[in-house]
Amino acid sequence: MKNISVISGISSQDLAKKVARKLGAKLVSVDHKMFPDGESKITFKSDIRSKTCVIVQSTHPPVDSHMMQALAMAHKAREAADVIMVIPYLGYARQDKEFLKGEIVTSKVIAKLFKSVGVSRLIVVDIHSKTALAHFKGKKVNISAVPVLVKYARRERLKDPLVVSPDLGGTDRAKKFAELMKTDYISLNKKRDRKTGRVNIEDSELDVKKRDLVIVDDMISSGGSIIKATEFLKRKKCGRIIVCCTHALLIGEAEKKILRSGVEKVISANTIPGKTSVADVSGIIADELSNA
Ligand code: R5P
Repeated sequence: MKNISVISGISSQDLAKKVARKLGAKLVSVDHKMFPDGESKITFKSDIRSKTCVIVQSTHPPVDSHMMQALAMAHKAREAADVIMVIPYLGYARQDKEFLKGEIVTSKVIAKLFKSVGVSRLIVVDIHSKTALAHFKGKKVNISAVPVLVKYARRERLKDPLVVSPDLGGTDRAKKFAELMKTDYISLNKKRDRKTGRVNIEDSELDVKKRDLVIVDDMISSGGSIIKATEFLKRKKCGRIIVCCTHALLIGEAEKKILRSGVEKVISANTIPGKTSVADVSGIIADELSNA
C-alpha cells in the first residue's frame, strides 16, 4: 500500500515491522532517548510522505511513558498525514467508570488526549472494557485475538477440553473461544474487593472432573485472578489446565506463581512482547487496516 506508512512505536517495534510487511507499507523508524528524569525524546528517522500514517504502540509498563510517547508520536505525525493509532494493549481501560466516589475515570482523559493530538481512528485489540473505548469520540474498532489464540490452544492436544472464563464479564470471550474449539464453556463467578483489589471465586456446582481446561482471559496482570481460578478448578478435580490470554502483563513473578499453582502453560498474544507472546496479531491488524 503506497499511501500508508507505519511508524514503529517504541514499545511495539517487532509488531509494527510485521504489520508494515503485511501491508507492503513503508516503515518509519524512530529514535528514542530517555533522559535521566524519565522524559522521552523521540525523533522520526525519515519523513512521512504518505496520506495516512499508522502508529503501532502498546501501552504496557511503563504505562505512562508509553502513553505519553504514543501521544507525542501522534502529534508529530499529524503534521504530515492522517493518523491511525493502533494500540494493541490499551492501558487504563479498567478505569472506565467511577466505581468508588471520587475516582477519576482516566480512560476518559486518555480518549480526549488522543482526539486532541489529531488521532482520527483508534484500533485496539481485546480492550478490557468497551465503555473505555466508547469514550473516544472518533472512529474506533476493537479486534479480537481469540481466533489466533485458539490455533495455539489446539496444538496442546487437550482431552475433552472445556473453556473457562475466570469471571462473568468474560463470558462472551469464552463462548467465542469454545465455538472455535468446537466445545463448551463455563464462567466462574469472580468477585473483586474494590478497596483491597483481592479476588475470590464464589463456590458453585460445576462439573469439570477429569476435563482438560483452557482458562481464557483478556489480560493477566498480577496473576491473582488466574491463580484463584486454578486453585478452585483443581479442587473440583479437573484435568490439565492451560491459560490463553491476549495481554500478558505478568507483573513481577506472576508467571512463576501461575505455573506453581498448577497451570501447565501460558499462551498470550504479541500485543505485549514477552516470553509467552507467541500468538501473532499482525495479520488481524493488517486486515483491519486494509479493509477500512
Ligand atoms: C479483570 O476483570 C480482567 O479481565 C483480568 O482478569 C484481571 O485484570 C487480571 O488481573 P490480575 O492478573 O491482577 O488478577
